[in-house]
Amino acid sequence: MESNLNGDPLSEGAMQPEIQFEIFTLFPDVFEPYLRSSILQRARQRGFMDVQCHNIRDWTVDRHHVTDDEPYGGGGGMVLKPEPVFAAVESILGSPPKCPVILLTPQGRLFTQKVAEGLIDNIFVTRETGRSERGFNRLGLICGRYEGVDERVRSNLVSDEISIGDYVLTGGELAAMVIIDALTRLIPGVLGDPGAAGDDSHASGLLEYPHYTRPGVFRGWSVPEVLTSGDHARIDKWRREQALLRTWRRRPDLLDKASLSEEDLNFLSGLDKKEKP
Ligand code: 6GU
Repeated sequence: MESNLNGDPLSEGAMQPEIQFEIFTLFPDVFEPYLRSSILQRARQRGFMDVQCHNIRDWTVDRHHVTDDEPYGGGGGMVLKPEPVFAAVESILGSPPKCPVILLTPQGRLFTQKVAEGLIDNIFVTRETGRSERGFNRLGLICGRYEGVDERVRSNLVSDEISIGDYVLTGGELAAMVIIDALTRLIPGVLGDPGAAGDDSHASGLLEYPHYTRPGVFRGWSVPEVLTSGDHARIDKWRREQALLRTWRRRPDLLDKASLSEEDLNFLSGLDKKEKP
């Protein structure tokens, strides 16, 4: 009925995960392969997070386990029925739910790095006490399907609605996975290097600078000389300028919200329209 995707010491109850994701879906099987991928699997094994999948169909009470029905008022498509969704969520998270419950839907607020950071702040639990200091250590994720979800789920069960972008998917499962991935890598300790999450594209409000590794020359393409100079002040300056240049070219909308120094602004004002591809 329920699948704990974690086949390791955590499931023996030795440690409470810092974040427990509770997914409500009609397709619980799609989560497992990705959750077994390197960083997420390791985060689960080390007790940073855990994921439980709950099949909404298990909470239907009719003989045919029907989860959808025709929309009142007619029109095409089918609508996810409210009863099994309420029953599933309330039986796992309480009635009313004792933690945030997010509905994944194209009509939700747009998921960004800022939103991810906000959710983490709300959920974060210290390893020492195993208890939430800022609120919750569980997060409910309801994956919408069909043409939509009965409006009473939105208005009376969920605390938030999130979309991962301006396009339409067949269901909220991929969006839930995206959120779990983005939140997990923000849990302190999950990434090996403590600075790793802060350097990312978007963490600073800018796109990231280009990266290179060995070999120094590959098919005749050389690594920029500055990176092999050993001059760290020059390297830092080059990286900052590359981040600014890349953001200016590809995502100028981000520059309005990024925190920029006098030097950054000088660099940007020196850029010529010709440098746009
Ligand atoms: Cl959360 N669900 C669906 N079905 N489509 C989406 C989405 C969510 N976010 C972007 N497109």
